[in-house]
Amino acid sequence: MNAQLPAQAMQESIASRYRAVRQYSLELIAGLSAEDCQLQSMSDASPLKWHLAHTSWFFETFILNTRPNPAPVFDPAFAVLFNSYYVGIGPRHARPQRGLLSRPALSEVLAYRQHVDRHMAQLLADSALPPDIIALVELGLNHEQQHQELMLTDLKHHFSCNPLAPAWRADGPDQTIPEHNRHPTQPLELNGGLVEIGHTGSSFSYDNAQPRHRVWLKPYRLASRNLTNGEYLDFMLDGGYQSPELWLSDGWDAVCAGQWRAPLYWQHTDTGWQLFTLHGLRPLQPLATLSHISFYEADAFARWAGARLPTEAEWEHAATSAPADGLFDEVWQWCNSAYLPYPGFRPASGAVGEYNGKFMINQMVLRGGSLATPSGHSRLTYRNFFPAGARWQFSGIRLAWDT
Ligand SMILES: [Fe+2]
Repeated sequence: MNAQLPAQAMQESIASRYRAVRQYSLELIAGLSAEDCQLQSMSDASPLKWHLAHTSWFFETFILNTRPNPAPVFDPAFAVLFNSYYVGIGPRHARPQRGLLSRPALSEVLAYRQHVDRHMAQLLADSALPPDIIALVELGLNHEQQHQELMLTDLKHHFSCNPLAPAWRADGPDQTIPEHNRHPTQPLELNGGLVEIGHTGSSFSYDNAQPRHRVWLKPYRLASRNLTNGEYLDFMLDGGYQSPELWLSDGWDAVCAGQWRAPLYWQHTDTGWQLFTLHGLRPLQPLATLSHISFYEADAFARWAGARLPTEAEWEHAATSAPADGLFDEVWQWCNSAYLPYPGFRPASGAVGEYNGKFMINQMVLRGGSLATPSGHSRLTYRNFFPAGARWQFSGIRLAWDT
């Protein structure tokens, strides 16, 4: 929320943002069939139909159902089907089995969205809406934007399992070559010292980016851009995936168990390397930004290159004090930082407090944003997080060095 806006303007602003964000979810499925929206290729990736319903469930559960005159319930069964992980709310349908939900049909889910939108529009027209409800609407919009990114990364994984290599769109940003990738990385020199990180001010942030606090940083260098496919190919050709000394123990286990020989979506064919993209199978572009890398691969590459991954404090400090290319619009950048609470972190009370805090175990932080991140959703202080072996997000590598 922006506390500097008069209350009425703030309400109109959030009402129009609500319409825009909800509409964008529908734009993402334009051209897809009901069958496309039903796919679930692995337990980490959900059907697009489920994302469309779950984001509506969030507004219904945390806002519409809590009002003094709750909106009529569209279907009581949806309370279980589309609850993701909120134990405080009640039972949940098992995540690996979301793809089995052929009912409700996509058309019913779209009708559910319209039902929620209709009642949210009535709610947002109330000029006496309490600030805590407006804050929950803001959370719900950011939540939907998170799921919009997942809709693309999940769909890419679903489609990658089809030998026909379907395309989401004929053309788009996946594997385009930014101009800065045509030039060598120029390490940015950072003095470090006593710096502050974390969210501050009245604009929205998730609770996990708070409170702002001080961190001591030694002088360091950060790459001016993200790694390219061609630079990673050098690591592969030098036996990177066959050299256990480069890998963390868990990482080497993942290489062996998954028979990793290349990043996710790379395919070696008679005509050379091909990449599966949101636009179908394409020849590998050496100058395009490397993506779909696990933390383990990022860490091993950095060791091979005589570098290291930045900590999240280094990344945030550099992003606020030194210009760098591809911070937000290419790939999320793995940091050598476990996803832990900031000193003094307090999750929100009630079930909505389950949003972030309970996942602060066994995950690593990523910073930045990606080509799949909705416009306006990235922030310098944004803490994304995934398990170290996750590869289906648009995740890449930005190197750091000690000085
Ligand atoms: Fe969610």
